[in-house]
Amino acid sequence: MLKGKSIVLGITGGIAAYKGAALCSKLVQAGADVKVIMTESAAKFIAPLTLQTLSRHPVYIDTFEERDPSVVAHINLADQADLIVIAPATANTIGKIANGLADDMLSTTMLAATCPVLIAPAMNVHMYEHPAVVRNLELLAERGAMFVEPGTGQLACGYVAKGRLAEPEDIVLAVEAFFAQGDLLAGKKVLVTAGGTIERLDPVRYLTNDSSGKMGFAIAEAARAMGAQVTLIAGRTAAQPPAGVELVRVESAEQMLEAVTSRFDAVDIVVKAAAVADYRPVKQHDKKLKKNGESLTLELERTTDILQTLGQRKKGQLLIGFAAETEQVEHYAMDKLKRKNCDLVVANDVSAEGAGFNGDTNIVQLFGPEGLIESLPMLSKREVGRRIMEIASDRLKSACARGRGE
Ligand code: PMT
Repeated sequence: MLKGKSIVLGITGGIAAYKGAALCSKLVQAGADVKVIMTESAAKFIAPLTLQTLSRHPVYIDTFEERDPSVVAHINLADQADLIVIAPATANTIGKIANGLADDMLSTTMLAATCPVLIAPAMNVHMYEHPAVVRNLELLAERGAMFVEPGTGQLACGYVAKGRLAEPEDIVLAVEAFFAQGDLLAGKKVLVTAGGTIERLDPVRYLTNDSSGKMGFAIAEAARAMGAQVTLIAGRTAAQPPAGVELVRVESAEQMLEAVTSRFDAVDIVVKAAAVADYRPVKQHDKKLKKNGESLTLELERTTDILQTLGQRKKGQLLIGFAAETEQVEHYAMDKLKRKNCDLVVANDVSAEGAGFNGDTNIVQLFGPEGLIESLPMLSKREVGRRIMEIASDRLKSACARGRGE
């Protein structure tokens, strides 16, 4: 299952470091190319030669031991990895990577890495529950790190409690599940909208909103990572769009309507994360408006509701809308789902800290025709995007199965 996958395995200094050897062996047997980084403390628990023999690569411990002058080892390892697994992850290493410290080979590589990260913590139960460790784990989760939770059982310190490293077999399963995602939307076409629209008043003034496009970009990135062919229709944004997608830039709600509807028939899933203006100025002036009098009244008219238009036209597409609310979130989300004929609505309370416009995190609830499906805690927008697309792929599969009469 892991053939062709490049995995960096970070082993840190806890008694469970010995299980790192079994994990390394299983990942290699599953076909992965595994490069091991050990902390100096890990090397006190288990001989690097064991990991070198199992991985068939030299083990990295010292940042300054540059064996190949043609590359910088920690940058090279970070760039080549499809996934970094840290198992066992001690409280110390978790603290370092959560806070951006880089004082050894593993933490330096982590700072240079842009690939996904899977962390399997192992430590004494009181350490695991310490507010500092809890906060550090939350910080990493907000940035999109995945976790294999420790198990409960006999700990090396004598306690019988939570803190044991998950079994190597379970960590391998989590790694395989991560890579299996790559096929979830293979052969499917996904259209995502992101950002805010601009409704011009004159050549230099316009009405817009605070959307940065981050939520829509994260959804497009997740869909692409799951194997979909993705078209991203983006209005005004303040973030870097993901690579590997077809990017179509628009300005106004009218242009977004045209860009979306002209592609709608050919796609399987539409996710409307964009913040589209509900009103636009009735008159758009060719020349800059001159100051005239003490007040100015703008006359606005309704824009077309793109989501509702798609809801009326859909023929088998999975239609996912967003609901940006500040009160009675469930009530308004379910109202939008029914009125706009959506299959899913992702509701965010945009007045809550850590949710909504501009930031890197969101707190969402997903609703289907049956009501609340899932309520997610504060997570990175990347992780929220991944979860939305996982649910979308599940729903699409059952819709197809129903279509075939299964
Ligand atoms: O971009 P970010 O900074 O990351 O912020 C993310 C976000 C807050 C913009 C995003 O999470 C979000 O909530 N997007 C929807 C914002 C919005 O316009 O919500 P709404 O409740 O007003 O609209 C409901 C749905 O109808 C949305 O899917 C919207 O795209 C759609 N709509 C609205 C008006 C319109 N004329 N046409 C539409 O299609």
